[in-house]
Amino acid sequence: MNQGLVKLPYDYDALTPYISEQVMEWHHDVHHQGYVDGWNSAEEGLQEQREEGDFSGTGALLNSFTHNFCGNILHEIFWHNMSPNGGGRPEDELMERIEEEFGSYENWKKEFKQAAKSASGWALLVYIPYNNSLHNVAVDKHDDGAVWGAHPILAVDVWEHSYYHDYGPDRGEFIDNFFEVVDWSDVQERYEDISQKFE
Ligand SMILES: [Fe+2]
Repeated sequence: MNQGLVKLPYDYDALTPYISEQVMEWHHDVHHQGYVDGWNSAEEGLQEQREEGDFSGTGALLNSFTHNFCGNILHEIFWHNMSPNGGGRPEDELMERIEEEFGSYENWKKEFKQAAKSASGWALLVYIPYNNSLHNVAVDKHDDGAVWGAHPILAVDVWEHSYYHDYGPDRGEFIDNFFEVVDWSDVQERYEDISQKFE
């Protein structure tokens, strides 16, 4: 079954001046679309192999599936993690958990920012049902460094296509400005949904 590209939950220019209309348009319509297309074509290739009984392309097709599927999922989370009415800090239960696990919100943010500066892909705040914990994760590409069983609740894309047009090499400024548009209510909702499922 063919998968479609999720719509942005706001207009292309909604996150200005932090992320430009041009970057949102390229990022969503070209880059994210590319991962959706890559995922569909990997699925089609796998299906063709099953029909023909020739499985010689399996390795490359599964690599392509993982890369493109993970790219699609992370972009969907990233778009919904942001809002023109974002900014501020987490509240209630999520804030308490962050303070409990990282010592303070400031500590968590410093670690997350460092993860975003060092990753060649994504920095994620994940919830891990296995030990009922929150953790920061730095991922290269879309999945190199991924943690089994972890559910991302906050994702920032630090591929160059995400910020270079607006910030040049100053990735740190992009990360600082990302926090001006983080929709903490979305992050909180993701945290509650996934942690309640595993209680
Ligand atoms: Fe991206």
